[in-house]
Amino acid sequence: MTRLTILEYPDPRLRTRAAPVERVDAALRKLIDNMLETMYAAPGVGLAATQVNVHQRLLVADVSEQKNQPLVFINPEIIKREAVGKMQEGCLSVPGYFEELDRAHVVRVRALDRDGKTFEQVATDLLAVVIQHEMDHLDGKLFVDYLSDLKRTRIRNKLEKDQRQRVQERSRTRTPAL
Ligand code: NI
Repeated sequence: MTRLTILEYPDPRLRTRAAPVERVDAALRKLIDNMLETMYAAPGVGLAATQVNVHQRLLVADVSEQKNQPLVFINPEIIKREAVGKMQEGCLSVPGYFEELDRAHVVRVRALDRDGKTFEQVATDLLAVVIQHEMDHLDGKLFVDYLSDLKRTRIRNKLEKDQRQRVQERSRTRTPAL
């Protein structure tokens, strides 16, 4: 399995709207396994394909304590939402920031599984929020879009500064080419 690079805000590729998955095949299952590996290593509880620069409608999640219940949703659709309330969330593409947003705490989702079979699942609480958050990624939307312009700009400036610093550190430590 391969650990994939997670794009970070404000990378414009995170704004891409993902296309429906047309075929659930071995290549897609390999991508799913790599996304799960990447999510567990991060560590995170959900990851959308958009975040690893694959623009197909696919997300993975695992909200279990033991991190042994991987879930896969291909071409997910929310067919029912209930019980909207505040819940704190963060994002692997916006590291270090957590904000409270209004989300449905109960959702019914229809999707394809890793064998390409349609299933429906009722997700509650954290899993419900993860699914809504990851589905936003598939539409090119980030949780910072729900915040005020002021707050979003502050987060963007700080992350851009961190990214510039990382690039500078890498160039300092690189061995000169001979
Ligand atoms: Ni995210």
